[in-house]
Amino acid sequence: MKYILTILSASFITVSFSAKLPPGFKKCNLKQISSQMCLPQAIESAIKQMDRPIKKLGIVNLEPLEIPFLIVDAGSQFIHTQQAFKNMKLSGFNETSCTKAEFNYNTKTLNLECVVPRFRLEFNYVVDGKFLMMSVYGNGTGWAVFLDNQFELNFQFGEYEKQGKKYFNIVHQQLQMRPKDIAFQLDNLFDGDEEMSNRVQNAARENALEVFDDVKPGYEQAFGKVFAYIFGEILEKVPIYDIFS
Ligand SMILES: *[C@@H]1O[C@H](CO)[C@@H](O)[C@H](O)[C@H]1NC(C)=O
Ligand SMILES: *[C@@H]1O[C@H](CO)[C@@H](O)[C@H](O)[C@H]1NC(C)=O
Repeated sequence: MKYILTILSASFITVSFSAKLPPGFKKCNLKQISSQMCLPQAIESAIKQMDRPIKKLGIVNLEPLEIPFLIVDAGSQFIHTQQAFKNMKLSGFNETSCTKAEFNYNTKTLNLECVVPRFRLEFNYVVDGKFLMMSVYGNGTGWAVFLDNQFELNFQFGEYEKQGKKYFNIVHQQLQMRPKDIAFQLDNLFDGDEEMSNRVQNAARENALEVFDDVKPGYEQAFGKVFAYIFGEILEKVPIYDIFS
């Protein structure tokens, strides 16, 4: 297992009847979908409106998006310790801009490219292992900011019918993240030994992108699952026709 993820608690409202998208959500006509501009704008605007929970759809808010518990496996080059997180909050989605959204009805795929200028993580963490050749241990709070973080998300849908209406579900998803830079701070590393803590963190900061690459697949899988979960909540309740018009 690359990660363990208990997502987003059990507080969802189950809606058995079909719902409509909230009025502020923009729809794109399926036949005009190849006209490129509609879908990226619609998705971008939907993401921005999800800065509060949408009760009618039973979906959580994205600003911040909370992940109660997450474990990312050790890497193989630099980070020889698993990274255990609690109460992780993701934010910055309110400034998302989407440059590409290609939906293909025949293959039932959606390819999305969006940039989040300041993708921010806040968390409680526990590490105990090695970074480079140095032993590291710590248990405390921390944050990380991924600058100009490009998210490329690919969804493969399945189609099914419920009470005479067609719905999509997500049968496969893949996320790739490409940040331009990463800033971060872990508090209470080495039980608060400042000198040791600075030495290790500065070493990591000098090559932040390369260091992150070592463990990136675990984060991509975890965040990909979270995004798919939220999107899936919408797809489960809103028929295809009412999403794409
Ligand atoms: C997004 O949220 C952050 C933090 O709450 C805030 O500082 C920023 O102004 C917001 N940006 C927009 C475009 O609303
Ligand atoms: C980390 O610290 C918290 C709060 O002090 C404590 O409850 C928890 O048991 C610690 N975890 C580990 C693995 O040491």
